Parts: sequence; structure tokens; C-alpha cells
Amino acid sequence: MRDMIEDIRPAMLAAMAEIGIAEDVWSGLLAGSTDAAHADVAMPCHTLAQVLRKTPVAISDDIENALGDSLAGLAYISTVNGFLNFTATPGWLTERVTAVVGDERLNVGFEEPRTIVIDYSSPNVAKRMHVGHLRSTVIGDALARMLAHKGHEVIGENHIGDWGTPFGMLIEHYLDFEELEVDDIDLSSFYKGARAKFDRDSEFAERSRNRVVKLQSRDQDTMILWRKLVNISLVHFNEVYELLGVLLTDDDLAGESKYEELLSSVVDRLEEAGMLDESDGAAVVFAEGWVNREGEPLPLIIKKADGGFNYATTDLACIIDRVEVIGSTEFLYVVGAEQAQHFAMVFEVAREAGFMDDSIAAIHVPFGMVLGTDGKKLASRGGQAISLKDLLEEAIRRAEAAILEKNPELPESELRTVAEMIGVGAVKYADLSTERTKNYVFDWNRMLSFEGNTAPYLQYAHARICSIFRRANLDRESARNASISLNHPNERSLARAIIGFAEALDDAIDSHSPHRLATYLHGLAQSFASFYESCPVLIAEDEATRVSRLALCDGVARVLENGLGLLGIDVPERM
Ligand code: ARG
Repeated sequence: MRDMIEDIRPAMLAAMAEIGIAEDVWSGLLAGSTDAAHADVAMPCHTLAQVLRKTPVAISDDIENALGDSLAGLAYISTVNGFLNFTATPGWLTERVTAVVGDERLNVGFEEPRTIVIDYSSPNVAKRMHVGHLRSTVIGDALARMLAHKGHEVIGENHIGDWGTPFGMLIEHYLDFEELEVDDIDLSSFYKGARAKFDRDSEFAERSRNRVVKLQSRDQDTMILWRKLVNISLVHFNEVYELLGVLLTDDDLAGESKYEELLSSVVDRLEEAGMLDESDGAAVVFAEGWVNREGEPLPLIIKKADGGFNYATTDLACIIDRVEVIGSTEFLYVVGAEQAQHFAMVFEVAREAGFMDDSIAAIHVPFGMVLGTDGKKLASRGGQAISLKDLLEEAIRRAEAAILEKNPELPESELRTVAEMIGVGAVKYADLSTERTKNYVFDWNRMLSFEGNTAPYLQYAHARICSIFRRANLDRESARNASISLNHPNERSLARAIIGFAEALDDAIDSHSPHRLATYLHGLAQSFASFYESCPVLIAEDEATRVSRLALCDGVARVLENGLGLLGIDVPERM
């Protein structure tokens, strides 16, 4: 209800000046109420009590008196237990909801554009994408969409693991196969196979080490083999991205190999800054304030004793590239919570070394784990790692069955498309609707249910409105510009929900938490369900009411379509 707070503010300024309470004392107290039945906006007067040496009840009464009828037509005022409550008048609500529904962007504003790098998905080459990559990919995609919608320049960076010592053994393992084609290679066992061979076969291990040397010196034949190996994985990643419907393309690749040439200069610059130390033959940085469990300084390893560089070194190079080449001032790293220490240390070292100054926001956006219905980390099924691709295909199959049960009349030609929207949408929504930092349980029945906080529930609300319009004899465009009147309490609740879209979106963006948008959309769909139950649309009492209700329906459908779209979820027109 920030629009309302804004509208109330002038009258409050005058009233509070009259009573003699400084703006900075009360301004932050005015907040949207969590319970619309009580108020839309409320101000607790309890903290003012100490300043004014009066009871909260007396203060709220004083303010109410000072406000007089200055908010007439805008809000009703009441006081309860030291709370000053403001409830929007139907007039105010009508005006706001009309403005939102009539606006193409549903009142979502633009921000001063910034260049924002989002590091997300970032799987490792020569391994299959598994369910652990799901979170980074869909959360990063949602953040990218939301930020772009606000007018920012978003640069997606898929920091794939495509370089480093493991590639020696991967290339040698690859060579041990004859004429390997993309489809023949089983990525789920490829890496494991190479690793096992490396551990048991010393000749292979020797070959692999030699290969690393060749790779590092960019030996031509080795580079060709490396490229092939990377490409096989890219084909697989792209299949998953396509199924998931995310924005990432090959243009967004910014794998570890991209920064390889910068690594030695990272070492030089740390050296120049006087930050490098030696520890067991490795070049390390002891960053301010980092200690291990024993209380000893914790090193960030820059160059290993064998001369190889580390994951952290690449991330430092990455920061230099983002600041100095891309010119970005804000980087988001959508990576699991288990890497929190890695990022905290890398950011600290980068700041100390002057790779980035305080004008730059480097933010780790962590997330929790995906659990199976047994409560354990969802990683394997019967010992086999669950592949993301198989999982998504299963989602589509299950969605198809669910749709057929609900709507046996759905034309065959639409079934597959709708099943993709619902199946993939259900998987993405289950992920995006849980509080980002928490673990969540991957539960087919729950996520595909048409009831509850699920994609199918929201998609169904949208489809229902499309179906109303198919029978309404009024096109959506005309409905949008119709005059709205809010006579029923459920119409008013629905209007409040529609108005809240822009604020919920900003809140989700500011906290990098797509689930806040999801929670809002679910509330909107629930509000629509209550409205639809008590307020007949097509057979409303009179034509003006019918058209007004259609306008509300159009608003809801567009917020759902837009909002889900920003989460990367499509909405079918019928299902
Ligand atoms: N490839 C890494 C992994 O699978 C994730 C990379 C995240 N991005 C980064 N800049 N470190 O764990």
C-alpha cells in the first residue's frame, strides 16, 4: 500500500507539524497493514509515547483530531489501542485500480538503468546437469527477467566449469573412446569413469597430467579435443535450457576458460598489493578476519603448490573483467548457500586488492537445497544421479495426465503445449515460490496440484478468466478501459490485490527473492476466487456492473500473465 502512504503523507505532514512531532520521528512508522480487514495503512504510536510523554492512545487520538477531515475521500481514520488506522475509501480504490488496469505496464515503473551481471546456472562440463542446477538456473532467470523489466541492462553470465586440471583426465578418457558422438556419450558416467580410471591406472594418470600441461600451453590438438568435449556438454545444457524455457544462450557463456589468460595478472596484482603469502608451497592470501575452526588465519589459495590456479583465482579474474571490461557496478552470484564462505572471502580479497571499490555491489544470492520426499538431499534415484532433463520430461508427462483428468475435452493439438507450460511451470514455481534460502521438498503431487500455492492453481485462474472473456462478447481491450465501480467487499479486496502488483515486484527485486512475487500472485488468485464466487460476472445485475467486473477480471489475468512471465512461467489460455 505504498501508493496510499504516499497519498496520505501531505495531510500527515500538516497534522504532525501541528502537534509538533518531527517528520523523521514518525515517517518510518507509517506502514502497510498486514490485515486489510483492519486497515490498509497503520501507524503504531507506541514509540512516540516516550518522546511525547503521553500514552499511545492519547497520541493516536491527538493525531486523529489534528487530521480532521483532511483525508476525506481518501481514507477513513480510526484509532485502536494506540494504532492510527487508515482504510482506503472505495473512491480512492476505484481511482487507483482504474489507473493500474488501464496501464499497459500495470503501473510497474522503470528505474534508473544500471548494468547488472547475473552469474547463474553455471554447471560443469562433462557432467550432466542435475537437480542442484535447477535452482540457480530458474532463480537467476527470474531475477534477470524482473530486472530487465525495470529497465536495467542485464548481462547473464553462465560461469560453466570448463577449465582446470580435471580436463587432462577428461580429454584422455575421451580419447580412449573411439569416434565418440554427442549422443553416445553418457555424461552421467563420463566424469566418474575418468576419475576412477585416474585413481586406479597410473599410466592413465601420467597421460592426464601431461595433457594438462599441453592444455595450459594451448597445444593445438589438445585445444581441438577440449573444444569438442565442451561442445558435447553445451548441446546437453542447451537442451535443458530449452525445455526449461530460460533466457540463457551460448552468448551468455562466460566459463572459467574465459578468464584463464587473466589468472597470472591476478597473481601479479596481488603480489604488487603486498597481499600474497606462502603456505605449504602454495601462494595464498590471508584475508582480514578469516580464521578456521582452530582460530588460525584461513588462507584463500591463489596458486597451488603444483602451479595450478584455483576456483577462487578465477573468480577474482572474473571480478576484474566485470569491473574493468564490462563496466558493471552490480554483480549477483546465484549460487548455493554452501559457497557462502568462498564468495565472502573472494569479495573481501578483491576489495582489499582494489579490484573493486565501494561503489560496486557484489552480492552472493544463496539458495537452499532441493530435498526428496524422504527429507534427504534429492540427488539420486536408486544410486543414479537424477538428471534434470529426465525430471522435466517426467513433469510434462505427469502434467498431461493431470490435464486430461481435469479437462478431457482439451483438443489433442493443444495438449502437448499446455502440458509443457504446466509441467515445467509446476517445477519452476515449486522452486521459485519457496523462500530462497530455505530447503524445499520436491513433491510431484503437491507441485502439480490445482489447489494451493502452485503453478497450476495460478495458471488455472488465468485460463478461467480467458474462458469468461470467450463468452463475454466484450474484448479485453474494451474491458480494460471500462469504468470500474467497487460495491461489493470482494470487489474491493480484489482491487487492493491488483493494485499491489508493482510494489510486490519491487519488493521481490530489492530482496532478490522471486518468492515474494510468487506469494503475491497466489494471494491475488485467491482473492479472485473469492470474488468470482460471490460476484457473478457474466450474469451481473446490470450492464455497468458486468463491464466493471470484466475490467477487474482483465486486470487479474494480465497481472497473472505478467507476473508469472517474470518468473519465467507461461500461461495457457485454456487448460
Ligand atoms: N561451476 C560452479 C559449481 O558448479 C558454480 C560457479 C558459480 N559461479 C562463480 N562465479 N563461481 O559449483
